[in-house]
Amino acid sequence: MNPNFSNNINTDIQFHCAWDKRSSLVFNPALIKELYELDFQNGAYPWGLAAWQDFLQSNEYYFLAFLGTARHLWGLALFMALPGEITAHLLKIVVHNEQRKKGWGERLFKESTAHLKTLGFSSIYLEVGAENHPACQLYRKMGLQELRRVPRFYSDGKDALIMSTGLPAL
Ligand SMILES: CC(C)(COP(=O)(O)OP(=O)(O)OC[C@H]1O[C@@H](n2cnc3c(N)ncnc32)[C@H](O)[C@@H]1OP(=O)(O)O)[C@@H](O)C(=O)NCCC(=O)NCCS
Repeated sequence: MNPNFSNNINTDIQFHCAWDKRSSLVFNPALIKELYELDFQNGAYPWGLAAWQDFLQSNEYYFLAFLGTARHLWGLALFMALPGEITAHLLKIVVHNEQRKKGWGERLFKESTAHLKTLGFSSIYLEVGAENHPACQLYRKMGLQELRRVPRFYSDGKDALIMSTGLPAL
């Protein structure tokens, strides 16, 4: 975990975009394991450790935001963000279940999208479980519009809603 993090929840969100040369975060196996554990224990359709390792180590086209303490990661947002594209794809947003309903999800979304705007993105796209009420409400509050419903999108047979929003011009 980043040594600048105190034991109290850090109010600063750390950002990392693999292809943006201004991003300075150096990934280490311990941080990737913490991202995996947060997702595995609290996420909607969690990835395995190998998927996290592959994604962050061999794929350059992502934007990651996270916050936490010296000991625990409390929240993350992960986007597919291809240079030259205008739409960033939200893959995951996860807040630890002990830290929910405190505004962290909203901050992760708002600050990530503000950062993505500075990288040239002008819209956001995502899929969400149609029955995932907290996430659907968060996205509606963030201004996302439902584009369509995809039956049996997920491996467990559940439907997804496809949602998107434009980002206001800088
Ligand atoms: C979705 C998630 C990230 C929200 O994080 P959070 O930090 O609890 O959310 P916030 O406290 O910032 O809440 C922001 C808004 O989200 C909505 N929301 C959050 N939790 C909610 C709940 N349990 N029920 C209804 N709406 C909820 C509300 O609109 C809320 O605004 P309000 O406080 O003015 O009502 C969190 O519930 C989570 O990690 N869920 C599991 C992972 C997941 O499903 N991710 C989405 C996959 S697509």
